[in-house]
Amino acid sequence: MTNNLLKGKRGIIFGALDENSIAWKVALRAKEEGAKFVLSNSPIALRKKDIFELAKITESQVIAADITEISELEDLFEESMALLGGKIDFVLHSVGMSPNVRKGIHYTELDYDYMQKTLDVSAISLHKVLAVAKKLDAISEWGSVVTLSYIAAQRVFSSYSDMAQAKAMLESIVRQFGYHYGVAKKVRINSVSQSPTRTTAGTGVSGFNAFFNYADAMSPLGNADSKSCADMCMFLFSDLSRMMTMQNLYNDGGFSSMGISNKLIEQYINCGCGE
Ligand SMILES: NC(=O)c1ccc[n+]([C@@H]2O[C@H](COP(=O)([O-])OP(=O)(O)OC[C@H]3O[C@@H](n4cnc5c(N)ncnc54)[C@H](O)[C@@H]3O)[C@@H](O)[C@H]2O)c1
Repeated sequence: MTNNLLKGKRGIIFGALDENSIAWKVALRAKEEGAKFVLSNSPIALRKKDIFELAKITESQVIAADITEISELEDLFEESMALLGGKIDFVLHSVGMSPNVRKGIHYTELDYDYMQKTLDVSAISLHKVLAVAKKLDAISEWGSVVTLSYIAAQRVFSSYSDMAQAKAMLESIVRQFGYHYGVAKKVRINSVSQSPTRTTAGTGVSGFNAFFNYADAMSPLGNADSKSCADMCMFLFSDLSRMMTMQNLYNDGGFSSMGISNKLIEQYINCGCGE
C-alpha cells in the first residue's frame, strides 16, 4: 500500500537493529511511501550486520553514530545531507537502553552511573540530535521528528525501572524543543507512545510477557503492532500532519484510556486473589 506520502522527502532513521525493531518497519514503510533516507545505529549494533540487509532492501546507506556523541551526530547530519542531496525532512529517533534494566537491578537500588547512561541514551540523545540539527540548520522547514515513548512516562509499570524517568524526560524534550524549533524553523517534534512490542529492547524488560498480555487484554483493539506504529509515523512525517507538534500520541489500541476491561473482569472475578 503506497500513497506516496513521503515522495521526494529525505530522512534519517535511528535504531533499526534487526527485523523486529520498530525502526526497521518504519524504514520499510518510508521506502514504500517514496522517501530516501540514511539508516544509523551505534558502531556496536552494526556488528550484528542485519541493518545492511535492510539497507539493501531500501536502497539506503548506513552511517554509524553513537547517538550520545555530538561529533558523531554532526558527521552523520553532514554526510546524510551530502548523500541525499539536501536538507533532512524527517528523523526517526527509535533508541532506548537501560543498563539497570539489562542487569536486572531493582528500582530501589539503582546504580546511578547506569541511570545517567539510561537518560543519556534514551532521552538526552533526542536533545542532542535536535541541537546538532538546529546548529547545522539541517532540517527543512515543516520537517518532522518522531521519537518512541511508552506510557510508563505517566504511570507506574513496576519493572520498567529507570526507563520510566527516561520516557518522562523524552516527552518533556519533545514539548520544550518542539517550542523552540517550531518558532525558529517550523520544525515539528512528536512522540508516539507505543504498545508493548516484541523487540530486543522490549523483551529486555523483566516480565515483558505480562506487560504484553495484560495490555492486550485491556485494550479494546488489542495491542498495536510495529507495523501500525510505522503507519502512524508515515502520517507524522508527511505533510498531512503539518500543524501537529509537541504531542505525545498513543498508538496503543485504546489502552491509555482504560480502567478495566471485561476480559480482565472475567479473569479476576473468581480468581480467589486477595481472599
Ligand atoms: N518494544 C516495546 O515494547 C516498546 C514500547 C514502547 C516504546 N518503545 C521504544 O521504541 C524504541 C525502539 O525500540 P525497539 O522496541 O524497536 O527495540 P530495539 O532494541 O530494536 O531498538 C533499540 C535501538 O536503540 C539502539 N541504540 C542503543 N544505544 C544506542 C546508542 N548509544 N546509539 C545509537 N543507537 C543506540 C539499539 O542499537 C537499537 O537499534 C525505544 O525508544 C523503545 O523504548 C518500545
